[in-house]
Amino acid sequence: MKIEFYLNSELVAVDVEPMQSLLHTLRGTMGRTATKEGCGEGECGACSVLFNGRLVNACMMPISQVEGGDVMTLEGLRQTEKGLCVINALLEAKGVQCGFCTPGMVLALYALLDADPNPSEHAIRTAISGNLCRCTGYGMIVEAAKIAAQKGEGLW
Ligand code: FES
Ligand code: FES
Repeated sequence: MKIEFYLNSELVAVDVEPMQSLLHTLRGTMGRTATKEGCGEGECGACSVLFNGRLVNACMMPISQVEGGDVMTLEGLRQTEKGLCVINALLEAKGVQCGFCTPGMVLALYALLDADPNPSEHAIRTAISGNLCRCTGYGMIVEAAKIAAQKGEGLW
């Protein structure tokens, strides 16, 4: 089945089984490997992307649902000022260790700050509650969100 959608603002077309996940389409069919596969069953958030501006788990979304929609992954986000603001904040706060959760975490923090430019610690922790990190203990990631809010003032 031919599916057309926007990937990082570029119109793309793929010919795949309609029930193949967006995650496997991105990574396997299209070779866009910034989006990671952790659990593959909606539990870890490693595969987080934005779909029509909303944070979703790409492993749980059949590609047929993406037809005509707008997908943003880390490949696109890191080309933007806001994406770089989040990435730099994670580096500054040392919120990246093995880095496996990081692409999903960047998308989750971006979605949070875009909706709430000055989030409380509770709001930050709630926003990343669907993203598992086995390395950092979350404190540094929360700190990164605060840095991105502060350094990105006027950007969000
Ligand atoms: S790989 Fe999608 S939620 Fe874990
Ligand atoms: S940095 Fe290793 S899982 Fe988060």
